[in-house]
Amino acid sequence: MNLTPDVLGPLIIGMRAAYARGENAMAHARAVLGTAQNTSDATLIAYDLQAGSYTAVVRETRADNLRWCSQLADVLRPLFPAGGSLLEVGVGEATTLSTVSRLLSPAPATVLGFDLSWSRCSVARDWLQEEGIKAEVFVGDLFSIPLADDSVDVVYTSHSLEPNGGRETDALRELLRVARRAVVLCEPIYELGSSEAQARMRQHGYVRGLADTFRGIGAQVKECRLLPYTTNPLNPSGVVIVEKNPTSAVSPALAFRCPLTNTPLVREADVCFSPLTGMAYPILRGIPLLRTQHAVMASKIVTAGIKS
Ligand SMILES: C[S@@+](CC[C@H](N)C(=O)[O-])C[C@H]1O[C@@H](n2cnc3c(N)ncnc32)[C@H](O)[C@@H]1O
Repeated sequence: MNLTPDVLGPLIIGMRAAYARGENAMAHARAVLGTAQNTSDATLIAYDLQAGSYTAVVRETRADNLRWCSQLADVLRPLFPAGGSLLEVGVGEATTLSTVSRLLSPAPATVLGFDLSWSRCSVARDWLQEEGIKAEVFVGDLFSIPLADDSVDVVYTSHSLEPNGGRETDALRELLRVARRAVVLCEPIYELGSSEAQARMRQHGYVRGLADTFRGIGAQVKECRLLPYTTNPLNPSGVVIVEKNPTSAVSPALAFRCPLTNTPLVREADVCFSPLTGMAYPILRGIPLLRTQHAVMASKIVTAGIKS
């Protein structure tokens, strides 16, 4: 977490209480911190508190999930190479990733998803297992993704950029860095929303200007449009598609990188370790914690392959 302990402690307690009262925990955080936009800490806390709620809804009714994921799979299919790799950024409980992966044909050879929240990753891992989808789930931050440049064929989002208003340029640069062939954003499109939707998005600190931000950093936007099916007309879902030319004929091996230094990590049972820097990232109940905040300077750690 980035906030100082004197702010963070009361914030967590306050957000938990707001959530228990059925209020919007992020709105509580914006009011307490006096910010118009959402901090990463507030986003993490708010979503962690909700862990388990998405899978509960999908268990009740599959129809809306199938409808949502079908339109996303239709967008991804033509961009997806046979035997390719797929990453969902801000995967939540993997209710989108599981269904999208199943709908892609041929199926992705490698499926990855990460989220700020450990609790949601934990729910996601169990859900994917239940759904019979083989995938790697880890904790990470979309502003410093623990993967190599050009290493995942298709990188997509499903309403995960949404709360990161004001940080659009950094977010899109990072997604473009990791993607090998395409980035697909499935996010609310501020510019195509009604004035009522726009006012709501401003109030919630949501992202804006995604297509223009891509253009501003030199990416060619192939499409920017609203999707036919959206769960909330006041948060109108659309897609922004950017294609990339692969920089080499062969994809780099898909392996975790240190998010601080972009150097290779060696994975063991309870740690991902950077031999170059001596930095260790713990693995909590099987889920790698790969945010910069998780780094432990542990140059003397003894691992199976490396003795420091
Ligand atoms: C509205 S939920 C969508 C979850 C999932 N993509 C889906 O389709 O069900 C947004 C998710 O994005 C995650 N998120 C938001 N900002 C993030 C960031 N900076 N890095 C990683 N995950 C983030 C949140 O923790 C949350 O789980």
